[in-house]
Parts: sequence; structure tokens; C-alpha cells
Amino acid sequence: MSDDGFDHSFKAIHDHEAEWEDDDVRGLLTLPKGVKVKILNHDPVMGRIDMKQRFPAGYVEPAHFHDSYHSILVTKGRMCVAGKDLLPGDYVFGWDKMHGPYEYPDGCEVFIVYMGDTSHKWEKEQHLKHELEWKAETDEGKKGVEDHVQQRKEGVT
Ligand SMILES: [Fe+2]
Repeated sequence: MSDDGFDHSFKAIHDHEAEWEDDDVRGLLTLPKGVKVKILNHDPVMGRIDMKQRFPAGYVEPAHFHDSYHSILVTKGRMCVAGKDLLPGDYVFGWDKMHGPYEYPDGCEVFIVYMGDTSHKWEKEQHLKHELEWKAETDEGKKGVEDHVQQRKEGVT
């Protein structure tokens, strides 16, 4: 361990060496159910987590803020936020100012770096009333959007 307590070790990791985990069990994000996470590198002293996140087709991530800040790169699918249909290679930064909601009509995978507490602060009632702005382009997406609309109608988060 170094004097500053940070993990200075070099890492080179194949995608298959890290497992996808259900964040409803892992509990890092405190978001509506259904998000998967793959932790690539975690330095608890620095408070940094590098990971992938996978959002199922039709998932809506509520408007939120958090104490941590995050840098995100879309790697698969679509992330629809702030009037933009973001595709692989596109980027997002968020911190303690309200941001979102995000729609993932066709599902999405991102690489994300969080600095600090990864829990999200959002309003359940507002999330359940969310009006969709974006349409799915794939059959899987259309089904996913229908399922998530139904879940919100039933009050499921
Ligand atoms: Fe955020």
C-alpha cells in the first residue's frame, strides 16, 4: 500500500474476467430495479468505482442527483437524456445538480466512473408519472417499453 492509501497498481482486465451483478442485490445505485453492474476497479480510499452498467430495454432512470460525480461513456444501445439520443461513443457528466430522467428505449450499456457515494436521490411519485419522450426502434425495445410503462402504472420501482 502506498503512503496516500490509494491503489496505484496497474490493471489490465478482460471483459470476461469481471461478472455482471444485479444491482438490486449489490445495492450501489439505489435506482429502480433492473440495473446490472460490472465492477472493474474499486478504490474505496479514493472513493472511485470504475464499472459498466447495463439498463434493460424500456428502463427509465429517474431525474436524480448524488453526492458523487460520474463520467459516463455510452458503449452499447441508446441513452436518451437532455433532448439527445446518445449513442456509443457519446458522453455524460453529472454531479449534485438534478439531471435526467434518462430513457433507455432499446437498452443501453455504459462505462462509468463514480467518485464518492454512488447512491441516487430521486422522487418515486415523480418517476411513476414519467411521460415517455423517446420511442423504441427494436422489437425488444418496444416490448421493454410496454413492460416498464405497465410496471410504473402498478407502482413498481
Ligand atoms: Fe447521475
